[in-house]
Amino acid sequence: MEIKKIRDGNFENKKILVRADFNVGIVDGKIQEKFKLEACKKTIEFLSAQEGAKIALISHLGRPDGKVNAEFSLRQIKDELETILAKKIVFVDDCVGKNVAKALEEIKAGEILLLENVRFHEGEEKNDESFAKQLAENFNVFVNEAFSVCHRDQSSVTGVTNFIPGFGGFWLQKEMENLDKVMNQPSQPAVAIIGGAKIETKLPLIKVFENKYANILVGGKIANEANDQGMTFSAKVILPLDFADDRLDIGEKTIEKFKQIISEAKVIVWNGPMGKFEQTPYDRGTREILEAVISSNAFTLIGGGESVQVLEEGGLMDKISFVSTGGGAMLEYLSGNIMPGIEALKKNE
Ligand code: 3PG
Repeated sequence: MEIKKIRDGNFENKKILVRADFNVGIVDGKIQEKFKLEACKKTIEFLSAQEGAKIALISHLGRPDGKVNAEFSLRQIKDELETILAKKIVFVDDCVGKNVAKALEEIKAGEILLLENVRFHEGEEKNDESFAKQLAENFNVFVNEAFSVCHRDQSSVTGVTNFIPGFGGFWLQKEMENLDKVMNQPSQPAVAIIGGAKIETKLPLIKVFENKYANILVGGKIANEANDQGMTFSAKVILPLDFADDRLDIGEKTIEKFKQIISEAKVIVWNGPMGKFEQTPYDRGTREILEAVISSNAFTLIGGGESVQVLEEGGLMDKISFVSTGGGAMLEYLSGNIMPGIEALKKNE
């Protein structure tokens, strides 16, 4: 069944709750990745153009464990968001209750509300029904523009749609279209590059790619974990032939082998770095593989927080066919797992 899409909804004179994913790294007050903030822009422009529409953005930031904690306040992203969306943003210090209702009454045309971190309430991560009801009660309609949180069954992602109708935003749709594109009969040879940590979370995806792709190139910590655990794969899965010092990066021979396979690919999907890329010289494998991916003629899709950070820092975002905002969500979606946030948009009123 298809999700309900933003173009199917009527937003005129409606109070609209938009779930975004503003879960970005902030170091010394500086936002590390702007890409996630930009993802909701088209949806906000579309909704703002609807007569009498009142928009409030809701998101989580980090994992504050259901407690108010200034370190995780979304107030920190207000100015940057204002610049990106080119709209005046009014920050509301809670995401439920009277303050939200009052702000919605007082909002002026052209302004947007940014609600405080939804994970300051313990009901959020528990998908508590009464909390979801509280979230919904100030609004008439819900738009999910947070693909990267759709693997979470939480009040602001799923629960809220039990009380008000939910629609998928433009970015969420684009994520689904591009991820479907690389999984449904991809042009061959299709090549997946899987790195990062936690082999147990990546194993299901390697298995899925083994059925559909020509090669799966495995690097990063998961390659060490697979070796250490004596895991065996089909010949399609290529583990590193060598490592750089301390196994913190893939070695020279591996880089050459991976580059040669990448150069012939028609589709490339990449999730997770090839080594401890945040520390020189262990970033070499990741950077060399990235160069090879960029130079290839393939349709290229990259996702995962660290990969996006490398792309943003290098000003390389537009060199990739599609960059996914999803880390865990991208893995779940590509693995073919049910995504609660997407299922919730299929409900009929
Ligand atoms: C992400 O950054 O991948 C999403 O925002 C989900 O965050 P979470 O893993 O804390 O639920």
